[in-house]
Amino acid sequence: MPVPRAPRLACAVAGGQTVGVSTEREKGLAAAAAAELVESGMAVGLGTGSTVARLLPVLARRRLALRCVATSPATERAALALGLPVEPFGELARLDIAIDGADQIAPDGWLVKGGGGAHTREKIVAAAAARFVVIADSTKPVPALGPPVPLELLRFGLPATLRRLAPVSLREAPPSPDGGVIADYAGAFDDPAALAARLAATPGVIGHGLFEPALVSDVIIGRPGGAEHRTLRASH
Ligand code: 5RP
Repeated sequence: MPVPRAPRLACAVAGGQTVGVSTEREKGLAAAAAAELVESGMAVGLGTGSTVARLLPVLARRRLALRCVATSPATERAALALGLPVEPFGELARLDIAIDGADQIAPDGWLVKGGGGAHTREKIVAAAAARFVVIADSTKPVPALGPPVPLELLRFGLPATLRRLAPVSLREAPPSPDGGVIADYAGAFDDPAALAARLAATPGVIGHGLFEPALVSDVIIGRPGGAEHRTLRASH
């Protein structure tokens, strides 16, 4: 289940005045723009979180013929309730598009994901998609990524894994649907690629929340004036 977070307010300066802008509205703008990228007949990966929660009803209203896979039980339940067809990710080897939120978005396309603890499944779905579209409100772009970096850990040997990864903290969250323990790496870092390689190479780490730019096709940020769409790479 995604960790519930309070709605935040982003501040934008317009005409010399600081105005509070609801991040919820920005999430909706980004989600609506992403929903327009989906076409009938597509296999679609559905991410997890409050921004994706805005996507699902918009997508459902379009009444397209889709095959969907969900990155979490929460998304699966919400999608099914809206009439979107969700199937287990056991039949499809490739997705046309996946749409998901992010916790941090760096200028070069590196992401931190996993605020909802779904990052392992989210990365599998993103990597399977010809086009991976990130949707977010305007608080998510950052000049440089920083901690925490979500982790999913194998329960076997957990104390030894935690010792190797320190500084790391266990999250007060239920295990992932695959039985993994959710934790957060708290160390400072300035090279996401080096940290990603270190985390991936640590025995006991099932998955981490650093997503490399090569995974990301598009970033759509909701802004006070509308959705800002950046293309990082063509679909493949
Ligand atoms: C869940 C995620 C989410 O996509 C990320 O935490 C962003 O969530 P939100 O859209 O609620 O801000 O990675 O594991």
